[in-house]
Amino acid sequence: MKNRYTYILLVSIIISCGPRERVSKEVFDEVNKNMEIKRLTEVEIIQEAMIWGDSISKSAQENLITNLQKAIEEGGMPHAIEFCKENASQITNISEDILIRRVSTKNRNSNNYPDSQESPILDAYAYNAENGLESEPNIQKIENGEVYLYTKAIIFPGGICLSCHGEPGSQISDPVLNALENLYPEDNAKGYKMGELRGMWSLRIPKKKVVDRL
Ligand code: HEC
Repeated sequence: MKNRYTYILLVSIIISCGPRERVSKEVFDEVNKNMEIKRLTEVEIIQEAMIWGDSISKSAQENLITNLQKAIEEGGMPHAIEFCKENASQITNISEDILIRRVSTKNRNSNNYPDSQESPILDAYAYNAENGLESEPNIQKIENGEVYLYTKAIIFPGGICLSCHGEPGSQISDPVLNALENLYPEDNAKGYKMGELRGMWSLRIPKKKVVDRL
């Protein structure tokens, strides 16, 4: 980061002005300023995309949990399911520039199935989770390098999530099961256990927008 700006010293100006004609400091500074070149390396851009992706996925997750808890308090679990169906995608959609998704192969909403770019990464996260390995957030270049695909594994935390994604009967109550059956007849997102891979965050971040931040 320290070397982001490279100042080009126009030695030639000094030489061409001759030894007696000194260039004033103001002119010299002005020329240097105009010649300031923003040299960003790919590594710096990817680092920034990583920071941005981490922060957006964290805020989206927090937003979701706050809204979910509010919906549960206001109308109980079955109401919260309806609330999630109507609002989950808007709640996580917190940036104009970035397409934000939560994808999972064992999903409740089939729109959340991973696409061909997301699928291999999700598979790698699943492998790690099954073998007790931790997964770091990842960035892949897609669309000829114009877009960064930021991903982060969602490990199932148990707790409150069990009441809608745990074992039917013991963890998911009957009224919740009914609501799920009505709203999601094809639901595959039950029977999750703590520590299992629930899915992943998938953010498509345009490279240009990352450069604008630097
Ligand atoms: C009140 C019930 C409820 C609770 C509690 C709940 N979820 Fe969900 N979850 C849903 C519903 C409904 C959807 C489908 C939303 C949609 O249609 O986009 C969903 C979707 C998801 C998805 C997107 C992939 C998919 O299956 O479609 C993930 C990931 C997810 N939930 C994780 C969690 C986690 C982690 C927790 C705990 C913090 C949690 N959920 C708590 C109801 C719930």
